[in-house]
Amino acid sequence: MLTPEQIQEKVRTIIQLPALPSIAMEVVEMVDNPKTSASKLGRVISSDQALTAKVLKIANSPFYGFPKKISTIDFAIIVLGFDALKEIVISISLISSLQKKSDAYFDAEAFWDHSLSAGVIARRLARDLGYRVSGEAFVGGLLHDMGVSILHRYFHSEFKRIVDIARETDLTFLEAEESVLGVTHADIGGWLAERWNLPDHLIEAITLHHTPTKAERNADLVALIHCADVFSGRIEGHAVEFDKGLDFDQEALERLHLDDPQLLSEYISNYAAAVKADMEQVNPLVTPKLS
Ligand SMILES: [Fe+2]
Ligand SMILES: [Fe+2]
Repeated sequence: MLTPEQIQEKVRTIIQLPALPSIAMEVVEMVDNPKTSASKLGRVISSDQALTAKVLKIANSPFYGFPKKISTIDFAIIVLGFDALKEIVISISLISSLQKKSDAYFDAEAFWDHSLSAGVIARRLARDLGYRVSGEAFVGGLLHDMGVSILHRYFHSEFKRIVDIARETDLTFLEAEESVLGVTHADIGGWLAERWNLPDHLIEAITLHHTPTKAERNADLVALIHCADVFSGRIEGHAVEFDKGLDFDQEALERLHLDDPQLLSEYISNYAAAVKADMEQVNPLVTPKLS
């Protein structure tokens, strides 16, 4: 059996992992650097025609709701802001990198639906609750379970054992992962996020989405991603097998002032329609072609 260290090593090296395309890495770094100017960032993005076309397509989508046509990258940066742009570039880049194939152990369509719904829910929660992290919240929600996709693709026999255990026993998927691997998809997703050089708070949100009280950097973002994940499972049609038995962490609810059970259930039922509308807008933009 692999030790957690061996798994980490495998995630970091052997796997031809989903390295973000170099231009996306460059954009992510530039956006995090306070010295980066809009025009410099615009030059880098514009040097890649395919990326430019996709960024403009998304920037003009109803998801961003900008009333005028955005026809240049420079203008996109000005109207959308650095954070939204980073969100777009990462979303585009991840599409080509994660799993798109279904089999008896992994339902790719359900995986993407869950990921995307967690993204739009996290973004909505951030806005509705007044947290200034809506861009990060979307990406964090979108990527929170990417460790599951990595497990399925690169640790296939272990993944099958985990799924069998979760299906045949009372153990949750997380407990099954612990029993087979000694680590969970949250750790694995966090290692991948590190390898992608994502900002530290996103690495933390992915790593701690099932254990939000351990957050040290940005506990608000971690709580948002955690709650968006559970919300997604409670809204009809977005639950996934691997989030079996998932429940809210009380402290995370308190942090977001959602600890009143009636308020919480109102939020969840109000979000069902809103999330459907958000997903219809964003789905064609970021969901990969599933095979
Ligand atoms: Fe998860
Ligand atoms: Fe999840």
